[in-house]
Amino acid sequence: MPKATPDLSTNCAGIKSPNPFWLASAPPTNSGEQIMRAFEYGWGGAVWKTLGQDPPVINVTSRYGSLDVGGSKIAGFNNIELITDRPLEDNLKEMLAVKKRFGDRAVIASLMVPCERQAWHDITAKVMDAGADGIELNFGCPHGMSERGMGAAVGQVPEYVKMVTEFVKEKSSIPVLVKLTPNVADVRYAARAAKAGGADGVSLINTINSLMGVNLDTLTPKFAVGGKAAHGGYCGPAVKPIALNMVSQIATDPETKGLPISGIGGVSTWSDAAEFMLLGSSSVQLCTAVMHYGFRIIEDLNAGLENWMAGKGFKTLSDFIGVSAPNVTEWKHLNLHHKTVAEIDAKKCIGCQLCYVACNDTAHQCIAVKSNGKNGTSSRVPYVVQEDCVGCNLCSLVCPVEGCITMKPVETGHKPLTWDEYVKNGMTGYKEVYKRVHG
Ligand SMILES: Cc1cc2nc3c(=O)[nH]c(=O)nc-3n(C[C@H](O)[C@H](O)[C@H](O)COP(=O)(O)O)c2cc1C
Repeated sequence: MPKATPDLSTNCAGIKSPNPFWLASAPPTNSGEQIMRAFEYGWGGAVWKTLGQDPPVINVTSRYGSLDVGGSKIAGFNNIELITDRPLEDNLKEMLAVKKRFGDRAVIASLMVPCERQAWHDITAKVMDAGADGIELNFGCPHGMSERGMGAAVGQVPEYVKMVTEFVKEKSSIPVLVKLTPNVADVRYAARAAKAGGADGVSLINTINSLMGVNLDTLTPKFAVGGKAAHGGYCGPAVKPIALNMVSQIATDPETKGLPISGIGGVSTWSDAAEFMLLGSSSVQLCTAVMHYGFRIIEDLNAGLENWMAGKGFKTLSDFIGVSAPNVTEWKHLNLHHKTVAEIDAKKCIGCQLCYVACNDTAHQCIAVKSNGKNGTSSRVPYVVQEDCVGCNLCSLVCPVEGCITMKPVETGHKPLTWDEYVKNGMTGYKEVYKRVHG
């Protein structure tokens, strides 16, 4: 019998969609026409470009900047765009039309108005009338709106997060997600405040404060507006590890454990999305990858996730959402006795010696180059002095050949020992433990 196709449908904080891929609130969701086109391609949901009321929005040019790394375009993306500059009434009419045509997709209204109860009540009522399936509170925009006391200015103060979430929950009969800013020392405080305010879930991350560089000819900032730049918001592939860490912090915090999460930040592929879900996200949102490659990437996202799930035997998303989160812990809980050493596959080695230089100059001096002894020349293929290797990974990271340097686990014969346990045991036998770990 053929195996059943995995079910990609999700329910994130009460917001349902046929797949977990939502367009993040940003230029790709600026109008009903764009969102309908994205839905035709197969996107599961869309968070509308943030809607506001007053004060009026005027954008500047230029607005976007990027960081290219090596041959890779847009490894990081920067913007100084504000919330929507289109009239609220136009957006609401278009939202109604989108929901009428695509009843099965999630349409989430991203909102940002001044910190006044009435303003939040009014706009909440309007987007509910327009048929929105959920609301996302934009407490994260780091530029422009924050100077006016909105966006990140709210998200950085847990008391405001709680207060504004309460304003919206007083009026809303649809789920409310609070979108968090990463521009804080510890994202858990804002997540806890959102929960205390009654949020149905959180979405993160919004963009990270950034300045893209300085032009060495003109001596003015790169991507400037008439020679001057304001800090922008950074996103794209470069921010994924920061976002994953914050998602896992919220998923494992005893105070917010179980709070639904919509994961955002550097998702470009189905595998990025699966990582966010394994750490606790029940939907994922994409912006930069869509701005880079267009709406059609949803085909690969859906097919890739489905394939991977089938291979793993997962029938539904809930089979794996959050499964990896408990494996993220504090340093003090890691096993000091776990040991790996590097191994170089001489057949694959191209003799570039990057591993040798990296280890010798900057790490632990445990890679050597053989001398063949006959005519004084040395082989280009280095080898690992395994008894000195501390298993730091650096050689395998710099090696340009896939699979040439691997890290092999070593059986030490010692029971697992964490720093926490070691301290609790009175830190006895320090020299012995040090020797076991460091050789
Ligand atoms: C040009 C641009 C405009 C954005 N506008 C908004 C916005 O209006 N509201 C909002 O909540 N986030 C906005 N964002 C942030 C995105 O929704 C998202 O949180 C961020 O880009 C991280 O996702 P990514 O790495 O997939 O781009 C914007 C991002 C970009 C690049």
